[in-house]
Amino acid sequence: MGLGVGVIGCGRWGQNYIRVFHELPAARVIGACDVDPRRLSLISQRYPDVPTFTDLAQLLEQKELDALVVALPVSVQGEVVRTALLRRKHVLAEKPFVVDPREGLELVKLARRVKAALMVGYIFLYNPAVRKLKEHLRDPRQGIGDLYYLYATRTALGPVRNDVNVAWDLAAHDIAIFSYLLETRPESVNAVGSKFLRNSREDVVFATLNYPNQVIGHIHVSWADPNRVRQVVVVGSRQRILYDDLNIQEQLRIFEKSVYSSGKDTDSFGEFILAIRDGDILSPKIEVSEPLKNQCEHFLESIQNGASPLTDGPFALDVLSVLGALQRSLNGNGAAAKVSYEYSLY
Ligand SMILES: NC(=O)c1ccc[n+]([C@@H]2O[C@H](COP(=O)([O-])OP(=O)(O)OC[C@H]3O[C@@H](n4cnc5c(N)ncnc54)[C@H](O)[C@@H]3O)[C@@H](O)[C@H]2O)c1
Repeated sequence: MGLGVGVIGCGRWGQNYIRVFHELPAARVIGACDVDPRRLSLISQRYPDVPTFTDLAQLLEQKELDALVVALPVSVQGEVVRTALLRRKHVLAEKPFVVDPREGLELVKLARRVKAALMVGYIFLYNPAVRKLKEHLRDPRQGIGDLYYLYATRTALGPVRNDVNVAWDLAAHDIAIFSYLLETRPESVNAVGSKFLRNSREDVVFATLNYPNQVIGHIHVSWADPNRVRQVVVVGSRQRILYDDLNIQEQLRIFEKSVYSSGKDTDSFGEFILAIRDGDILSPKIEVSEPLKNQCEHFLESIQNGASPLTDGPFALDVLSVLGALQRSLNGNGAAAKVSYEYSLY
């Protein structure tokens, strides 16, 4: 029969959840909920078999409902997640989960108490190209060498959010990707940003994340850029790797190209010889699968096995801690902000 899944928030993103769960044999869509009846009538036209509700309480009353997907503006997600957990429903909430890590921690504890799965939709960790990149970085035979730094660019023209700035909306993805790839957390953040679109919140942010071993992660996110870019670049002593989400043919390209110091002084002024190595450009084969579908399948499996999902509550709490430091640095015009992991469960 499949697990009964409901979706609250049927906007641009929530509609994708309804499509994917509707297609997955291991699930049945029990209902869709939104405060906006126009959104619901679109759902009814596309999926006449899916009942729609404007009130969450009605959806939660459906006997066959096992799990709730929450795809709402982040500022209202916490209350809805709490309500669903108190009804002992498994929850998949959209990133970045909530705004206040204290509230996030309470929800993670609540989920544990009621023995419900709680997952946060950090979709890029279910993206085959990002997974391949991680495999490559973790395999010493693949030869990235020493990891120097990585940088992400995530720009486009909107959609502009009304409740959070661009960092909470977009940089959250890159913080999650960096944590996944590096298997470590940043110690401090420097961030600057600006408000160009007459929004009261930053629509452009440049952030530098300082990781252990002097590894630097840089993130450029913007809602105010006419050019849509979704890229992560990893630079090591032996290779440079480009993950380009918009390049369907070659999402990952490995440049056997590097620049390194010979370590020898060339003269009395202490100049170093910088050597350049130039080799092949490789384009690894990547399995074709839809990241959102992988994410939803992982959620269903976690419920069935009782195992913690990859992007569980504690994972999201750490991203929130980094976002909190990023925000403090933004408020302080780029002054370094230490990441306090006081709400961390790791
Ligand atoms: N993982 C991703 O790649 C990705 C992509 C886009 C959006 N998102 C996330 O998904 C969430 C929704 O984004 P979106 O682009 O679909 O926004 P949206 O504005 O298009 O949709 C939000 C919907 O929620 C409804 N809504 C608002 N408050 C409600 C409430 N209290 N009860 C019921 N319905 C309510 C609105 O009517 C609207 O239909 C955000 O948290 C965003 O961060 C994630």
